[in-house]
Amino acid sequence: MCGIIGIIGKQDVTQHLVDGLKRLEYRGYDSAGVATLINGAIERRRAEGKLENLVRALEAKPLAGDVGIGHTRWATHGIPNEANAHPHATAKVAVVHNGIIENFQELKAELTAKGHVFASDTDTEAVVHLITAYMDEGLSPKDAVAASLKRFDGAFALAIIFAGHHDLMIGARRGSPLAVGLGDGEMFLGSDAIALSRLTNRVMYLEDGDWAVLDKSGVEVFTEAGEAVERPVRISDFSDAAVGKGGYAHFMLKEIYEQPQVIGDTLTGFINPALRTITLPDLPFDLSTVTRLTLIACGTSFYACQVARYWIEKLARIPVEIDVASEFRYRDAPMVAGGAALFVSQSGETADTLAALRHAKAHGQHILSVVNVAQSTIARESDATFLTYAGPEVGVASTKAFTTQLVVLACFAIALGRAKGAIDHEREAQLVEALVEVPARASEVLNHDGRLKELAHEVAKARDVLYLGRGTNYPIAMEGALKLKEITYIHAEGYAAGEMKHGPIALIDKNVPVIVIAPTDELFEKTASNMQEVIARGGRVIFLSDVPGAAKLGNLAAATIALPQVDPFVAPILYAIPVQLLAYHTACIKGTDVDQPRNLAKSVTVE
Ligand code: AGP
Repeated sequence: MCGIIGIIGKQDVTQHLVDGLKRLEYRGYDSAGVATLINGAIERRRAEGKLENLVRALEAKPLAGDVGIGHTRWATHGIPNEANAHPHATAKVAVVHNGIIENFQELKAELTAKGHVFASDTDTEAVVHLITAYMDEGLSPKDAVAASLKRFDGAFALAIIFAGHHDLMIGARRGSPLAVGLGDGEMFLGSDAIALSRLTNRVMYLEDGDWAVLDKSGVEVFTEAGEAVERPVRISDFSDAAVGKGGYAHFMLKEIYEQPQVIGDTLTGFINPALRTITLPDLPFDLSTVTRLTLIACGTSFYACQVARYWIEKLARIPVEIDVASEFRYRDAPMVAGGAALFVSQSGETADTLAALRHAKAHGQHILSVVNVAQSTIARESDATFLTYAGPEVGVASTKAFTTQLVVLACFAIALGRAKGAIDHEREAQLVEALVEVPARASEVLNHDGRLKELAHEVAKARDVLYLGRGTNYPIAMEGALKLKEITYIHAEGYAAGEMKHGPIALIDKNVPVIVIAPTDELFEKTASNMQEVIARGGRVIFLSDVPGAAKLGNLAAATIALPQVDPFVAPILYAIPVQLLAYHTACIKGTDVDQPRNLAKSVTVE
């Protein structure tokens, strides 16, 4: 939700802090700020809005100092303005924070009664004043932080510096990710390895409850109970190429075009093309014993779960329950002993999904996850995790992560069907062959980019847009609607095509573009009828089908895109691409911020 970075350096750190914040801006961009120590005193520069505003403030008033912290904010408590921008500070302590301190009002009242004066509406300011209060009582910075951490309810990733202490920075995490970067005579803290990738590739991921005391020579890590602990140092592989735009206008477009490659890379992790079989990573339980599966996620990742439900119920013949994490977490759903729950998350840090995972684990479920970040909290708290090899996804709107999630879930569905004895090798081989085709077919789909850009001009004029699909293309209709909503701010809804006649068809008129997603599968004729019901009422249809489907019905639609014909099993993976491109081009026409849409953040690490 927010991005934090800290450096104990060998030279002025401000430019490195800003570079790190540029790599973190996808996590939130309501305001930004830095704080350093200059001759032992805390100095801050903060600015409302995007990072470029902070850069201008620093140009106007540069900031030196070899110890510093930085923050880019997605507002939770307190409107996005300079007063609420991090770092928050007293004369003794400066803090940047990602998360929510849920008992901050109680702490604020206690500290105000002691004479502390608050300058913002944020929960974070309670952190900096509580640490200061303990230091006023004579505790060392380290002991003051240890005492304060015990008082916080809620989630936090913190980076803290102290006036007069040029060789000290403390980090702490509970519920929000935090990594320690190891340099040579300098040390770092960051929300993720991407932020630190220009400074070091040696990264230590703190576990939940850990806190870390850094100086220029190294780090000491402590558990929540205060015991010293060692955490492994890993080599991160975020190269500049991986986190740059690579010549594309936006990260989102780059990531849409990376899909053929990353779908192929992800398939390589699961398919044996010679044997035409699926190989899953070793699991700590017997998949054949699973009698019921729960799929949980948020947003786009939830739509991947919706597609997977169709695949798993059809191939493995076991009931699948799906829900968005924020509902599942509080629904008190009955869970069968020995059941399995699978959590899908690009970031692996989504607070709702993590909370749901912990709930399912507490109810005795085997925990599986599909993530794009190997060292993420959700991966670490799973019994087994399946990786999407999408590479860093920086655009807030998820694209390549979604299609690679579908690939992994398709492989899982096949493996589960085999484990349950519900499909034989011949059927497995057919499905594997269909998956092996996807990277090449995805490249062909990208050839329709120009036509989709033309159609975007019509969509850009709309106030409401409908997306219709059936079966595994129904979740693609919803994903298409979400893509449009989140980057163009146009209202859109994805609907089961068969549901239109039960009410939503009242919305249809010539001003409401209707995107119909209908490859020639067993439901094609049914969807065709629904499309004709829309057209009969003056609706203008953009018809996404394959060559046979376009030949049958293309003449009825206002516009038709004929995708390559593929096995219906893999159609949803391909049909995600045109709806991504349609949303992207519509956003460009509308002039919205494609990679950093308003009010959003890439990783929602608060519940
Ligand atoms: C996707 O385009 C959205 N940005 C959002 O719905 C996202 O999918 C959701 O927040 C879940 O994120 P996760 O996959 O990292 O858990």
